[in-house]
Amino acid sequence: MITDQTNVLILGGTGEARDLATRATQIPGITVINSWAGRTRQPILPIANTRIGGFGGTTGLISFLRQQQIDLLLDATHPFAAQISDHAAAAASLVGIPRLMLIRPPWQPLDNSAQGGLKDHWIEVDSHEEARTVLPGLAERIFLTIGRQELSTFAPLQDLWFLMRMIEPPDPNRPIPPGRLLLQRGPFSLVEERSLLQQYEIGAIVSKNSGGEATYAKIRAARELGLPVVMVQRPPVPEGQQVADLEDALGWLRQHGHS
Ligand SMILES: NC(=O)c1ccc[n+]([C@@H]2O[C@H](COP(=O)([O-])OP(=O)(O)OC[C@H]3O[C@@H](n4cnc5c(N)ncnc54)[C@H](OP(=O)(O)O)[C@@H]3O)[C@@H](O)[C@H]2O)c1
Repeated sequence: MITDQTNVLILGGTGEARDLATRATQIPGITVINSWAGRTRQPILPIANTRIGGFGGTTGLISFLRQQQIDLLLDATHPFAAQISDHAAAAASLVGIPRLMLIRPPWQPLDNSAQGGLKDHWIEVDSHEEARTVLPGLAERIFLTIGRQELSTFAPLQDLWFLMRMIEPPDPNRPIPPGRLLLQRGPFSLVEERSLLQQYEIGAIVSKNSGGEATYAKIRAARELGLPVVMVQRPPVPEGQQVADLEDALGWLRQHGHS
């Protein structure tokens, strides 16, 4: 039920979600609870009321929504965080509250070659497993910028060398491919990305199609250097209302908060 004070649960995990949470707390009549999965040990959290850790599946999320009397659910998780978005869709529908997904648009390959400009060389694949199958023969030194969770998918490629960048170290109990780990948090500039690719003599990049600006410089750098990018496409999102822009998400909150 929507009362004078509207309780909003924001599911986060991205810089965009953090900005949204900060702005949402400034809307009169809205009380925000932020939820973070707790994957990174030193997360940059929103300033507002934040809880950390999983809910315990859809059932746990349903209990949380009821206990906290949440009126609105805003799913601002990363486009590759498919499980939590599915849980959010099921839980919001069962509890009977409005849900909105804030999903940044995917990157699109660019081709300015007809105007004498640069062109992206993307190999679009549906999964990390498919990305693994296209790498042999494509290049010998690969920049793997997919985070740490999917690294073991590439572990069988023992004849290739990988530069692997992530925020937290990978799970020591899971195999990783041969190469070098770089523990770094973005955003990264075009100058930094270009020199990294050159320094390590990278021949191809594997990236998720995350969208957004924070990690796009590597795609620009690859374009400039003419390197192929194996681009992993996004998993499907659950049905429901979605916006691509932070301002539209704030508009949705204002609209529902005052109804
Ligand atoms: N996947 C990526 O490439 C990526 C990149 C950047 C940031 N992130 C962020 O990192 C988090 C984890 O990503 P993932 O791919 O592991 O997600 P996932 O596969 O969709 O979710 C796995 C489990 O993590 C918990 N969880 C995820 N997001 C949560 C949140 N905001 N609050 C509370 N619990 C959450 C849930 O546990 P329970 O079932 O116990 O509730 C969920 O079932 C997400 O919040 C996402 O926004 C992911």
